Amino acid sequence: MQKLIIKGGKRLRGEIPLQGCKNSALPIMAAALLCNEECTLYNCPKLTDVFSASRILNGLGCRCSFSGNTVQIDSSTASETEISEQLMREMRSSIIFMGAMLGRMGECTVSVPGGCELGPRPIDMHLSAMRKMGIDVRETGGRISCKASGKKAKGAKISLFFPSVGATENIILCAVTAEGETVINNAAREPEICDLCGFLRACGAEISGDGESRIVIKGIPELHGCEYRIMPDRIAGATYLAMTAASRGEIILTNACPTELEPFLTVLEQTGCSIYSDDDKIYLRSGTRLKAVRDRIRTMPHPGFPTDAQAVLMAALVSADGTSVFEENIFDCRYRHTEALVKMGADIQVMGKIAVVKGIDKLNGANVEATDLRGGAAMVIAGLSADGVSEITQIHHIDRGYEKIEEAVSALGGDIQRV
Ligand code: EPZ
Repeated sequence: MQKLIIKGGKRLRGEIPLQGCKNSALPIMAAALLCNEECTLYNCPKLTDVFSASRILNGLGCRCSFSGNTVQIDSSTASETEISEQLMREMRSSIIFMGAMLGRMGECTVSVPGGCELGPRPIDMHLSAMRKMGIDVRETGGRISCKASGKKAKGAKISLFFPSVGATENIILCAVTAEGETVINNAAREPEICDLCGFLRACGAEISGDGESRIVIKGIPELHGCEYRIMPDRIAGATYLAMTAASRGEIILTNACPTELEPFLTVLEQTGCSIYSDDDKIYLRSGTRLKAVRDRIRTMPHPGFPTDAQAVLMAALVSADGTSVFEENIFDCRYRHTEALVKMGADIQVMGKIAVVKGIDKLNGANVEATDLRGGAAMVIAGLSADGVSEITQIHHIDRGYEKIEEAVSALGGDIQRV
């Protein structure tokens, strides 16, 4: 099994381009299933989750080919309506293929994406929305069989009790070719939803309101192919900015998305970093010890502070001057990375959804295990700012969402090796 060996203490300094967005690429690859012509996706990150999505598409009879960060998907030969349990298990978010298969074939058989590193991953909102759209949904032994009662799904008015990203995506994917109009109330407003809708509109879909809480989709008979550039990854951006801030360095992040990162940047600025952005660049400089964040850091649906940035910001604040308080409101079990940070000398008290982080002078390098994707990235940040050497194992978690993280860190002058 591979691991990362990090020698801490270096100030990170340099310019790196931001990778394409994992949480946009995955639903857009599922959406390509709806098109009866070839789609070309640019700026697609080379990640294990993206390769899992391509295996699912190939299993459905589509043709998927990669050339660098460009993916070509031809779904004209799509024929299968079942995704194996093994393929579903490779990636938690494989459930977003349900809506796309229903939109394309009118039926599908998938598996329940079991609980994972972040706690249970229920899909009750997904299934309840599909039923409202005239889909017959049967669950037996962890497998879910869905079939449109007519030939196609029917448009419906759907109100989500929580602005679920995945449920919003699944409803959109099923609704774009449904009969009639679908309205989603309390829809997720994440930038990745807008990127998915941008792709679908490029394929001829009629969608409005994405980015707000009410999205309207007018069903059309079929979607044509298109060429589309996937948005930058705002969470990877937050990761490299937090990493640089923790090392008291400076970074220019190019191909970035300042607007989409605003909820994170407004908090990061409170640590005393100097942050400027223009067009697609973000500049950060933090020459001194970070200050603790005065206000409680509450993770919320967009445009609130993103839950995916909680662990990486915490890793930067464990050696800040003062005490910061986190409140994780999205997932039940998203503090697993605190154990590793405490092993490195951090002072963190977790009580339910609250984590109190008392800044210490210096972390010490240690041997730690990545617990999940963003928790693993947090350990890289901690290792880079610690005294001594850290070894991080189980780094397959990190490779799910970061394209060759060791190359980006080395480009910034960090002492890191994958062995
Ligand atoms: C997406 O997950 C992202 N994944 C997550 O990123 C991200 O943390 C999350 O949205 C929140 O922003 C992808 O886009 C591939 P949700 P998703 O449905 O869609 C509960 C990362 O690190 N819920 O918005 O699964 C759920 O349990 C990953 O890149 C129900 O109760 O998130 C959670 O507590 C991690 N019933 C909350 O809603 C449902 O039917 C938010 O989940 C669906 C969700």
